[in-house]
Amino acid sequence: MTVEAVINLDIDGPRINRHVYGHFAEHLGRCIYGGFYVGEDSGIPHEGGIRLDVVEALRALDIPNLRWPGGCFADEYHWRDGIGPREQRPVMVNTHWGGVEENNHFGTHEFMALCELLGAEPYISGNVGSGSVREMSEWVEYLTRDGDSPMARLRKANGRDEPWRVRFWGLGNEAWGCGGNMTASQYATEARRYGTYCRDYGDNRLYKIAAGANGTDYAWTETLMKQLGHLGCRRVTTTAFHALSVHHYTLTGPTWEDKGSATAFDTDEHYRTMVAAARIEEVLAGHAAVMDCYDPTRSVGLVLDEWGTWFDVEPGTNPGFLYQQNTLRDALVASVHFDVFHRHADRLVMANIAQTVNVLQAMILTDPDSNALVLTPTYHVFRMNRGHQDATSLRVDLRTAPPSRPVGDTTLTTVSMSASHKDGRLLVSLSNLDASSSADVEIDLRGGTVEAVEALILTSAALQDHNTPGSPGAVEPRLHDGAVLAGGRLRVHLPPHSFVTVTGGLATGSRG
Ligand code: AHR
Repeated sequence: MTVEAVINLDIDGPRINRHVYGHFAEHLGRCIYGGFYVGEDSGIPHEGGIRLDVVEALRALDIPNLRWPGGCFADEYHWRDGIGPREQRPVMVNTHWGGVEENNHFGTHEFMALCELLGAEPYISGNVGSGSVREMSEWVEYLTRDGDSPMARLRKANGRDEPWRVRFWGLGNEAWGCGGNMTASQYATEARRYGTYCRDYGDNRLYKIAAGANGTDYAWTETLMKQLGHLGCRRVTTTAFHALSVHHYTLTGPTWEDKGSATAFDTDEHYRTMVAAARIEEVLAGHAAVMDCYDPTRSVGLVLDEWGTWFDVEPGTNPGFLYQQNTLRDALVASVHFDVFHRHADRLVMANIAQTVNVLQAMILTDPDSNALVLTPTYHVFRMNRGHQDATSLRVDLRTAPPSRPVGDTTLTTVSMSASHKDGRLLVSLSNLDASSSADVEIDLRGGTVEAVEALILTSAALQDHNTPGSPGAVEPRLHDGAVLAGGRLRVHLPPHSFVTVTGGLATGSRG
């Protein structure tokens, strides 16, 4: 079966914000300690304790931002515990994640150094749940204030003269749950209060992100939007916050206690995972529709600052550490999400996969025994798709019904696509979610010419395939000879369970 589609190369859609390819690092399991940070005494190559192999791998993704220190941890983190001489920093208990001791050796200066090494913008989540307005306000001052002030002096005493630039600032996390168990209206009031005292110093302009809804809780979003007092007619927003977030995880299992294995799953589970992943379209569209009622000019951003698969932890690992393997199925979850992100580029300003190293749907897994680093199938999707960052989106319109299959009481469309152009190059991403059938796509490229296409494919014999220290290249991209351009039409062959990207030089205008 051939899916027929049309791309009008000369009709630009909204820009895809590079920050939708963002990341998330929490003090959880081995994400920070052992993942990003090994300490200055480590034999692993590092700079100031930060693992350089991890940095190098992430730089290859053009990682745009990194959210830190949580997650749930953010609402019990007190930033002053993580500054000054490391041996004098207090130890706390990480009550959310395994009840382990946190020595605070990775704190503000280490995080900012990490962002500098990565070339990524910091996204700091402040503590609303167990902190205070003053504590958050002083953290902003410590980080960003130039000249003389109590917090600028403290920063300088800790070895950093120049202020840092920090744009993205989270006003708490999951306020409906681990961030304080608040009602929407309670939190909305808190967000205004906290947002008010997080100041812009010098030319550092904060972009404040309010803690948003859980999945499809549209009422939460509506309550926050009402707080902005921004009821259309081009009225100016208040500055309490500039965006609001939403969290949506891809869950497959029947219950929270039985989320299913990351690697030992059957075809039915694969399809259920794909249905759950595709639900992100409904989630983003739902929140965007509510926001449109209060902010028709779309000046308030939507931030999906936690997304990804959540399976049972690997057998024998600490249940509080959320360590899971990552297969080709995870790669398809990621590619489907990105297609949806590209379609919602007019409202979605940022997204952060949970989490970057050793936790949930990770890009990188590090082996605690050998210290070997493994790049996951999800990593490869981020790499293959990086050309969409800050690109101009292009609609992909279907002329024929795409293949689909019944899954439970719903229907899963098994071919997913999106496209963009940047710097004179077209990039088309295509996923075939079907476990056993291939698909062919023919795209009528109108309004321009495309030349010299090249394609990459990410697939493997089995959906369960994954990379390990012993077999790090089991699932990795290779050149794909199944993309052919002829007469202004791009034909792409998609083997079962595959992800393909096609790029080519683009000239818009008449088709020659
Ligand atoms: O990413 C793991 C956890 O999931 C985060 O700490 C929390 O915000 C969410 O519930």
